[in-house]
Amino acid sequence: MKKGGYMWVFGFMAVSAVLLGSCSGKKEGQEADYGAPDFVLTYAENQAEDYPTTQGAYKFAELVREKTGGKIEIQVNAGGLLGDEKTVIEQLQFGGVDFARVSLSPLAEFVPKLNVLQLPYLYNGREHMWNVLEGPIGDDFMNSFGDSDLVALSWYDAGARSFYSSTEPIVSLEDMTGRNIRVQESELMMDTIEALGATPVPMAFGDVYSALQTGEIDGAENNWPSYESTRHYEVAKYFTKDEHTRVPELQLIAQLTWDKLPPEYQVVIRDCAQESALYERQLWEEREKISEEKVRKAGCLVTELPSREMAKFKEAVAPMYEKYCWEYVDIIEAIQKAGQEMK
Ligand code: GCU
Repeated sequence: MKKGGYMWVFGFMAVSAVLLGSCSGKKEGQEADYGAPDFVLTYAENQAEDYPTTQGAYKFAELVREKTGGKIEIQVNAGGLLGDEKTVIEQLQFGGVDFARVSLSPLAEFVPKLNVLQLPYLYNGREHMWNVLEGPIGDDFMNSFGDSDLVALSWYDAGARSFYSSTEPIVSLEDMTGRNIRVQESELMMDTIEALGATPVPMAFGDVYSALQTGEIDGAENNWPSYESTRHYEVAKYFTKDEHTRVPELQLIAQLTWDKLPPEYQVVIRDCAQESALYERQLWEEREKISEEKVRKAGCLVTELPSREMAKFKEAVAPMYEKYCWEYVDIIEAIQKAGQEMK
């Protein structure tokens, strides 16, 4: 064989070896054989496998495994396998579940001060919300869990929520009258819907598709990725981009589990939760666009709320500030001030 021919054969063998190597195992980082873990912990997530928050959970589990040399293994259970959010929060309280990522709406039923951060029309956009959550106000909320038996680890993004309907588009406040709108299991959200003239129907996330399909409800509200990932757009194609609220989410650990971990592992858990949160936020921004495009292509009809109607929506829900958060007027003012400074 000529010299060039040998070179070709060696080149081919080298490339094949690399390819075989990379195809034979799992992803990098999952390769290391650490031996038996000291802690095997459960993580509850109610979204689908490919959803940004679930991917954030896997990133978190992977980082914790690496940084504890395999001493902590976190088993992520996606798709609501460990129950709906309310049940999962209850399980966290007695250590039946170790970790979870939950929406602030149901969580505020357990830690009422959190209602502040999900008041309707509180933020003027994503940047404003992140500015608040990542600053002293956000830290203060993280440390406000008192005797809830829950420990907050990091904020996750969940965008803005808007209404969607199966019957007719919502283009004015009057269009809300008489509708049955599904809400999260949250007093504040129920009252908000009532203030808008509709009938709130509290229901677990996993039950919404069939409730829309059977007509038990004729509308719901959520962010783009949830609307798309749950395929609600198939049964409720009128989407009104009103962005009435931003409901951030939290990664939590059960206090009972937290107390069992040595301090050095607690530090690792906090750091990894934060690192996974940054990852989730990046995925979130990408997914929001992809989801919006996908549902529009699928025939979903998107309406913007005219500004005079938006003003009516805001006025109708304004009493929620006083009713739910009268004790925290100073915090609300600080949040609003931060928003004005950003404009
Ligand atoms: C969002 C959130 C979920 C929540 C859902 C809901 O999708 O990420 O955690 O369950 O809203 O409307 O219930």
